[in-house]
Amino acid sequence: MSETVQVEMRGTIAFVTINNPPVNATSTAVRADLLAAVERVQGCELAVLRCAGRSFVAGGDMSEFDAPPVEPHLPDVVNAIDNSATPFLAILHGTVLGGGFEIAMACAYRIALPGTRFGLPEVNLGLVPGAGGTQRAPRLLGWKMAVEMACLGQLKTAEDLLELGAVDAISEMPDDLIESFRGRAFQRVSERRLDTGLDRDAFMDQVQKFSKGRKGPMHNLDALSWASEDYTHAQPRERALHLELRQSQESKALRHLFFAERAATKPNVLSDVQPKQINHVVVVGGGLMGAGIAAACLNTDRSVTIVERDKPSATKAQETVAGLMQGALKRGKITQSQLDTRLSALITTDSYAAASGADLAIEAVFEDLGAKRAVFTALSNVMTKDALLATNTSYIDPNEIFDGVPNPDRCLGIHFFSPAHIMKLVEVIRADGTTNESLATAFSFAKSLRKTPVLSGVCDGFIGNRILAAYRRAAEYLLADGALPHEVDNAMRTFGMAMGPFEAQDQSGLQIAYANRRRQDATRDPAERYVAISDRLCELERFGRRSGAGWYNYPDGKTPAVDPSVTDLILQYSDQPGLSRRAFSATEIQTQLLAAMANEGARIVEEGIAANEADVDVVKTAGYGFPRWRGGPMHWAKTQGGEAMRATLKTMEKASPGSWIRADRYQDKFKQVRS
Ligand code: NAI
Repeated sequence: MSETVQVEMRGTIAFVTINNPPVNATSTAVRADLLAAVERVQGCELAVLRCAGRSFVAGGDMSEFDAPPVEPHLPDVVNAIDNSATPFLAILHGTVLGGGFEIAMACAYRIALPGTRFGLPEVNLGLVPGAGGTQRAPRLLGWKMAVEMACLGQLKTAEDLLELGAVDAISEMPDDLIESFRGRAFQRVSERRLDTGLDRDAFMDQVQKFSKGRKGPMHNLDALSWASEDYTHAQPRERALHLELRQSQESKALRHLFFAERAATKPNVLSDVQPKQINHVVVVGGGLMGAGIAAACLNTDRSVTIVERDKPSATKAQETVAGLMQGALKRGKITQSQLDTRLSALITTDSYAAASGADLAIEAVFEDLGAKRAVFTALSNVMTKDALLATNTSYIDPNEIFDGVPNPDRCLGIHFFSPAHIMKLVEVIRADGTTNESLATAFSFAKSLRKTPVLSGVCDGFIGNRILAAYRRAAEYLLADGALPHEVDNAMRTFGMAMGPFEAQDQSGLQIAYANRRRQDATRDPAERYVAISDRLCELERFGRRSGAGWYNYPDGKTPAVDPSVTDLILQYSDQPGLSRRAFSATEIQTQLLAAMANEGARIVEEGIAANEADVDVVKTAGYGFPRWRGGPMHWAKTQGGEAMRATLKTMEKASPGSWIRADRYQDKFKQVRS
């Protein structure tokens, strides 16, 4: 027997321990050893199955998913446990996920340690479970919880399962209970009969809403519905679907992102760097972003000081943060006592003196270089020389912001996304002087806020907003050449974006991008095509939804409605020499806008601003509503292939000569050879 599974005989009870750090994934070795262990325990009265380390089996070994499956397959192992003449007692702790939960459900009895959590997260990878998970879950948990776990990917607690009789006991001292299971009657879960079939209609709305264009949730609903059939007949069907889905674009995209997110949040350059502890955070500017950042910090039980420009603004900031906390209380995310504790850890003031003891300052004042520089001068006068200084700027070069600040090694960008207490993405921006220790501290801080930090170098808009600018530019070119905003938005929503580019602009407001374009006027390449439709809207004070109108009208205050006057404005704009309008299909719109994003992303990687393509995909999926199940723009471009990308970029260059700089990797082949 190899080291991944140990069997120890104590009288007539066998103790089987899986030991495959870090999370006891069901690798080929574990499956083979476990199968051998099942044979070995035959003849015993009871086999106790548990895992060493921090968790029971928390899933399969995803690195094996791209290769053909190797024997023994997990369903064979799980069925061997199910059919074993010696009943298995599972002792569960940590997170019992995927294959781990499938193994646990095949055991005759289950004891959970307090705090154990259970899940079938295959849906999050575009898969269905492949070892009887969808067949045993309804038999053990009933349809409702089975749907919540398999289709919606929800985690459940030991208490949830105890209530349904799906675990036999919750205990801190499971060993004390083992004896009581000796000889206890049981019925195999696979042999249980369900009283009713799956009422698909009852769950359809919920599953569809969760799906957002993905197929995984519905596949899981299908597989669950087979649980009304005989197990031996339905389980191979589930397995076949699991194997088929491993090859699907959706699953490949989601698996790509799973690895991309893990890698992005642990950059190689920071692997040996020790982060510093951040206890007290000062946020300068308590507006939309500052209040959200403050709330995110308070949620991790840190002390937070907001410095505002005057007393009324400080009071307003206090109210905004309190409002965010009240919202969390209403949604049941926090208790009244948590709210009270967190708000008591907040100070709002108009005096920098209160910032003196803080470990980290995050500046979120108006997007104005002078204002930001004044903030850091004031901060460096009161804070210690090694306190971290961060700007939340969207576009301004942090090197200019920090120019003249003592100890530039501790200066960097920590760029949150709106709403900052909710959005996962944080870009950590390395300025010229920033040390790895400062970056590592920002990463560790962002992760403690349950965010997804991604490292970015300095360029206009960093990774995310720079790609956004290319995407919006391509979208405006389409308007000038024949498309209308709602056609573009519909096409991108059909692709899976949370919102189309124009409704998204209306949502966040057109002002910041407008101001940024004015900043770029002096340096913009005169050969680059500039479509000024968005500028015209801003000149008409149509700044988006909050100002009452933007690309759309908002008759009820929130739902966009096509405005004929905007259509007229676009038609008039196109009525100029050299422009002629034509129809664009949804596919053409999608291909061009995605190619614009991927091309800009590739340039960002080639310039060394992003470490790799996967980081770009994490930025777009975690912060910009790019559908996760499409893997991100770089993954999408790979699925298209270089040839198709070059063809699309050529079409776009022909329509807007001199306006697109093609990334090296999308240059024509002969040029690549020559360069
Ligand atoms: P905002 O206008 O909502 O808030 C700015 C706050 O700063 C106001 O409360 C203002 O009173 C305060 N302030 C201005 N000057 C100050 C000073 N000298 N000292 C102290 N407080 C001062 O602006 P918002 O949207 O929160 O943006 C703040 C920063 O975050 C900008 O740099 C912006 O580019 C960036 N950002 C904005 C995002 C967004 O979606 N709005 C997303 C990511 C970054």
